Amino acid sequence: MLILGIESSCDETAAAVVRDGREILSSVIASQIELHKPWGGVVPELASREHLEKIEPIVTEALERASASLSDIDALAVTQGPGLIGSLLVGVCYAKSLAYSLGIPFIGVNHIEGHVYSVAFENPAVEYPALALVVSGGHTNIFHVPREGSYKVVSRTRDDAAGEAFDKVAKMLGLGYPGGPIIEKLAKEGDASKVKFTQAKISDGRPDLSFSGLKTAVARYVRENSIEPLANGDAPTQPIKDLAASFQAAVVKALVGTLEKLAIELQPKTLIVAGGVACNLALRTAAEITAKRLGMPVYFPSKHLSTDNAAMIAAAGYSHLKNGETSDLRMTADITMRLQNLENEDLQLRKQKVHYRL
Ligand code: KG4
Ligand code: ZN
Repeated sequence: MLILGIESSCDETAAAVVRDGREILSSVIASQIELHKPWGGVVPELASREHLEKIEPIVTEALERASASLSDIDALAVTQGPGLIGSLLVGVCYAKSLAYSLGIPFIGVNHIEGHVYSVAFENPAVEYPALALVVSGGHTNIFHVPREGSYKVVSRTRDDAAGEAFDKVAKMLGLGYPGGPIIEKLAKEGDASKVKFTQAKISDGRPDLSFSGLKTAVARYVRENSIEPLANGDAPTQPIKDLAASFQAAVVKALVGTLEKLAIELQPKTLIVAGGVACNLALRTAAEITAKRLGMPVYFPSKHLSTDNAAMIAAAGYSHLKNGETSDLRMTADITMRLQNLENEDLQLRKQKVHYRL
């Protein structure tokens, strides 16, 4: 089955042609990073306008690179949510119209499920039960996946996503956007033991995560040690490199420590680490060491597939389509989508007051 995947949930317009959910014939991504850079983050209105401009040429390029024409495509998979509403609508409307005009099935895909499926390429097939850490700019969750397509959130961030923390700390230090890759680069020349950050503990005792306290601790350290944020073109100072390394180490320890705790409890057959922050080598190395210790394989997406892309959307779409699931023309973008179809504790947790101790 040849699937055309389309992704436009945030600031990447992407299209991919994927065979049988596991073979990428093409994957094209138009990143809007340069467009949003001057603003230090994604500007939703600019993002949707850019998606409108790019979607047609990106789909055409994906087909050309796959040496396929529209008549070869069996089905379409498109990101339905979560994400920015204006951005999502561009992909959803485009995919629905295209599927309608071609008379082929289509399916709306949860973006987070897409990240879980980003490991479907260049790795052995995932064995279930699996435990999946999805860590990106908008999301930080650990999912228990007892069988393909069933998800229970077993850990979530109670405030900021890990990628968001990377981005905010980078902004605070005058390092630019997006923060993750810049902090990772500086961290290589820094001493991670220079600044001691304590791990956040959630007062209700759940294996959840919190990064906003860490961000505040970085801000306090900057203030108390009179660290000057970099101005345009400044070379990074050693204290900034040390701070980047210490912050990165604290994030990695929180993520991998929680993954390990849950893996010991749930004994999965496969660990998955996916999402934009999975580009981070320190995170990969720590997850590999832990997986080795636990005797479980850990799969990562390749770097190209860690950040937002359409191949992962096609792969997730394939798993639904092969079970006969499709969407109809009433399907629309949904920013509230959650990946949780087993037991849901989130509603109850939202009502509960918690305290974070650092
Ligand atoms: O998955 P993604 O492309 O978009 C979302 O769905 O959010 O993830 C983007 C996030 C950004 O916050 C970015 O700073 C972070 O992933 N990121 C990294 C690295 N590369 C990207 N974080 C840490 N280290 C990296 N090397
Ligand atoms: Zn994403």
